[in-house]
Amino acid sequence: MHDFKYVDGKLTCDQLAVDTLVKKHGTPLYIYSQHTLEDHYQKLDQALAPLDHQICFAMKANSNLAVMRTLANCGAGFDVVSEGELRRVLAAGGDPKKCVFAGVGKTEREIEYALKQGIYAFNVESEPELQRINRLAAKHDLVAPVAVRVNPNIDAHTHAKITTGTYENKFGIAFEEVAAVYARASKLKNLRLRGIQMHIGSQLTQVEPFRLAVEKMLPLVKKLAKKHSFEFFSIGGGIGIVYDKALESGAAAWWQTPAAKNIITPASYAAALVPLLKPLGLRILVEPGRFIVGNAGILVTRVEYVKRTGKKNFVIVDAAMNDLIRPAFYDSYHQIVPVAETAGALISSDVVGPICESGDCFAKERPLPRVDEGDYLVLMSAGAYGSVMGSNYNSRALTTEVLVNGRQSAAVRERQPLEIIWEAEGIPAWLTKTA
Ligand code: LLP
Repeated sequence: MHDFKYVDGKLTCDQLAVDTLVKKHGTPLYIYSQHTLEDHYQKLDQALAPLDHQICFAMKANSNLAVMRTLANCGAGFDVVSEGELRRVLAAGGDPKKCVFAGVGKTEREIEYALKQGIYAFNVESEPELQRINRLAAKHDLVAPVAVRVNPNIDAHTHAKITTGTYENKFGIAFEEVAAVYARASKLKNLRLRGIQMHIGSQLTQVEPFRLAVEKMLPLVKKLAKKHSFEFFSIGGGIGIVYDKALESGAAAWWQTPAAKNIITPASYAAALVPLLKPLGLRILVEPGRFIVGNAGILVTRVEYVKRTGKKNFVIVDAAMNDLIRPAFYDSYHQIVPVAETAGALISSDVVGPICESGDCFAKERPLPRVDEGDYLVLMSAGAYGSVMGSNYNSRALTTEVLVNGRQSAAVRERQPLEIIWEAEGIPAWLTKTA
């Protein structure tokens, strides 16, 4: 489900050849397909059409202004987690009234800013946070719309670092305590109990955990919705994508769980959940990030050196863990393909970046076509949690991002000039005094 394919032996994004974009913008280079973004958004939107619903794109997955604007134009609201993200919504031309604000650590300043912007709801993760929001709303003579994030204690069967719906982690309020929390919150005068929320984890490739979580939540949601006149139920994000072609045929997934089949689609997600949710008569919010943007983006990198040791074939590329941290951080799998399609035998290769850490490795012992210095490789499915998790480690610049629309393309982020990296730093006077 994406618009990156080979045409006459050249990888293309929509109607443009990737090598043309590389010539123009250099590498490392993120390329996003506007059509894929829109297509994913619309597929989910259509699948949920039987419900009164709102898609709030989890912009933590990709907060590039052009990506956000593409989705805002489709009708998306946003799931934000910081003041910076909410300010980005405004910068991208999004609507704060379609935004929900998540996160366990909202500061006073962030809450006040979000209140003033008139966001749709705060997804609240603790009682102290409810009290803080109530106090700040009172200070500004406002009523804050809130939803309690419920931790349904359902194992999402995903990577440990991105599972969120069990009592082992810091998120939400335990299922058993939620009713009492709402009862106490209903006494706080500057809160409007607008809805209820859950999120069980990310990169869920199966529908089953979603179905189990919604089924578990239903009686509670019904009871509380009636009591507190809820308007919405947010079922969170987490719809997984296919990173590995092999996953489609049921081989091991990227987080190395056993064979996974029946990979989730908007249709199967909706088929399982719409019949459960429809009778509630509530507005349903979803907060997908990865599903919309993951396969809509690639990272192109140049081969700098090929180093053959007795044991290994190291392909040293110009992208590094500071550009795409997922393989280093989550052992995640990204398919790697050449920009110019090549025939011939595959060579078991380690694709590594230039950073002085053994973790700076995109793939180990991956069968790849023979490549040489100056060739280009592509890390597929890099649109979600790619560029946004980029850093300046090793004083490397945040890299260029390009958006493609049919035959048009535009740099939607220019490569960061190196001086900007240390622009906010300074040397105290006592260090510069000469003896
Ligand atoms: N809603 C909440 C409350 C979340 O915490 C998240 C993701 C989402 C929605 C969106 O989840 P998605 O639809 O994208 O699965 N950096 C990791 C993923 C971290 C996810 C954090 N929360 C990765 O690269 O796999």
